[in-house]
Amino acid sequence: MKKFIDDLMKKMTVEEKIGQLNLIAPGGFCNTGPEVTKNSSEKIRAGQVGGMFGFFGIANVKPWQEIAVKESRLGIPLLFGLDVIHGHQTVFPIPLALSCTWDMELIEKSAKLAAIEATADGLNWVFSPMVDICRDPRWGRIAEGAGEDPYLGALISAAMVRGYQGKDLSHPDTVLACVKHFALYGAAEAGREYNTVDMSRIRMHETYFPPYKAAIDAGVATVMSSFNEVDGIPATGSKWLLTDLLRDDWGFKGLVVTDYTAINEMTAHGTGDLKANSAQALNAGTDMDMVGEGFLNTLKTSLEEGAVTIDVIDTACRRILEAKHALGLFDDPFRYCDEKKTAEKILCKEHRAFGRELSAKSCVLLKNDKQELPLKKSGTIAVVGPMADDRKNMPGTWAIGGDWQKCVTLLEGIRANAGDAKILYAKGANITNSKDWAERIAIFGNNRIDIDPRDPAEMIKEAVEMAKQADVIVAAIGEAQEMSGESASRSDIGIPPDQRPLLEALIKTGKPLVLVIFAGRPLTLTWEHEHAQAMLMAWFGGTEAGDGIADALFGAHNPSGKITATFPRNVGQVPIYYNHKNTGRPYLAAGGFDDKFKSRYLDVENEPFYPFGHGLSYTTFEYSAVKLSSTEMSGNDTLTASVTLTNTGKYAGEEVVQLYISDPVASVARAVKDLKGYQKVMLKPGEKREVAFTITTEELKFYNTALEHVWEPGEFIIYIGTNSAEVKSAKVTWHTVAEAARRRKNA
Ligand code: BGC
Repeated sequence: MKKFIDDLMKKMTVEEKIGQLNLIAPGGFCNTGPEVTKNSSEKIRAGQVGGMFGFFGIANVKPWQEIAVKESRLGIPLLFGLDVIHGHQTVFPIPLALSCTWDMELIEKSAKLAAIEATADGLNWVFSPMVDICRDPRWGRIAEGAGEDPYLGALISAAMVRGYQGKDLSHPDTVLACVKHFALYGAAEAGREYNTVDMSRIRMHETYFPPYKAAIDAGVATVMSSFNEVDGIPATGSKWLLTDLLRDDWGFKGLVVTDYTAINEMTAHGTGDLKANSAQALNAGTDMDMVGEGFLNTLKTSLEEGAVTIDVIDTACRRILEAKHALGLFDDPFRYCDEKKTAEKILCKEHRAFGRELSAKSCVLLKNDKQELPLKKSGTIAVVGPMADDRKNMPGTWAIGGDWQKCVTLLEGIRANAGDAKILYAKGANITNSKDWAERIAIFGNNRIDIDPRDPAEMIKEAVEMAKQADVIVAAIGEAQEMSGESASRSDIGIPPDQRPLLEALIKTGKPLVLVIFAGRPLTLTWEHEHAQAMLMAWFGGTEAGDGIADALFGAHNPSGKITATFPRNVGQVPIYYNHKNTGRPYLAAGGFDDKFKSRYLDVENEPFYPFGHGLSYTTFEYSAVKLSSTEMSGNDTLTASVTLTNTGKYAGEEVVQLYISDPVASVARAVKDLKGYQKVMLKPGEKREVAFTITTEELKFYNTALEHVWEPGEFIIYIGTNSAEVKSAKVTWHTVAEAARRRKNA
């Protein structure tokens, strides 16, 4: 490869090298940012473009590639990227939902099948995985990530990269993955999109970096820099971030692309004009400029003025050519343009069946006190609510390849899987009655909210009359899909209020009420929890949403999903996350509200409504006490911590057994506990199993003030349980080898 690229670069002019650094979006298909590129064909012909994105399909891709290889001077092929985020044309559940499966095999396979469809549609680059840790559900992009935990987030990040890239990038079924948004984008202040981020280096390393680092370790080919600032400097222009850390410390060898017009936006951040910012970004380690054309229009001048060197331009250009070479584009620029594959793979039976499985397995059973679920396949079921027969919102945010018209609605899923049960349906309410809301979320030209012209009271009356004839009500409520996602922050994260009168009227019928909730974020659900008998969080399940949710509702799949982001009681508790610090004045619920001068609110508890890791099953599980192989450990010994798990209920079911560790005394303040492992265990009714975790000093490590990843001897608490709050614990003292030897000698 080196020789090939050396030879090619010898033939390239400076302008052509700079041209490779230009990633354009011709628009007209889906514009994922505020601007699109003009005169795309002329630019490609002139060797001013390295890649394109924002569209798919061989008929759309091929003509551009033909211009590049046949009409530009050197015939260098283009990269074709797209936001393939959760499946491609077969849309899988949103990433936040997928993360609730805690199932790395499924997640990896979801990326693999997405890559098969993407490459069958002309693409060779996906802008995924999005691995931004988020502790603030007001931020709409929490939908695109894996929630709040760095350990789980890192596992998912690596699984996605493996799924997309496979073992060989030149294989026609694999694509370049792009881990994003580097870095810290999920920590926007107040959950407001594109807002400032400011945090300590310890927190960056401890909490926010692990998923990015995991992608790098898994060999991710590309990295996207984020819009936000990192330690005072916009990420796209931060040499510390993009070179010192990413390349020098972590060993990343691939290409860094900016987010959409991120170099241009540095001006608004306050770092100067486009020329200065383009030079800064390039010098920082950015290789490719998405849409903004700052590189294209200013780097030549900066080179003449000495603000950048030809070496830096060469390095960036080489990285882009290397990515193309790795894909095999120089051998065959049209290798992703196989129409036979398109016909065979896109929305094929296997992918749809897998989508159904994922949709079922992503569901989280939040409440089921009266065992109203699973639903019986007999009697009468009243299906109501604005999401019940809604097709438009099934894909979820960032499903550019997905055609909502091909999605299965919940009502269709229920009807097809209800056996002998009689199904009645009424819409009952709109997602919102506000035209203004509907317009505000209509992106990519799609209106997602159909407002029924009828009087809301009339709609409720119809639903109530119908509900009275039923044995159970299934109410499908929630957000429209674009109420989460990019630029979709909300300051109130409840179910949109126009749905409340319907629920109130349904409750008055006295019939059992099962809520199926669609959303792209954790919501505040205290009122709903108080009034409904059962609640299933369905997120957005993609193409097969309806059938998958029906599988969970009727028990063909026994729910085993666990939430990966904390559900707050009210928005005032946000940011809220399980691995918080203790503070100097920790508040204990037992102290009650008399406990003045403690870290707490006057008007709400500190505890979340649903803790991280929460999720019920149709069966019940009992945990024994935690057993440790030893309570005194030395240096690099291996500890085994175990519990006996018993299925005490009536159904076969799967439990995610979670391991947390806390380090109560350390040189820096540590979190109250951190997830360090988990196992998914399937048990038949009455079955018992010992679930054992192996713990080494690796699991005890943290970042100290010198940012070294170390463990310090002392006492540790090992927790095992069904979620981050309901755990059993045992204590262990872990000595250095020398201290352990000294103790043995003295004993
Ligand atoms: C988003 C990225 C996305 C890019 C290209 C931006 O607005 O922040 O996540 O990959 O657009 O569509």
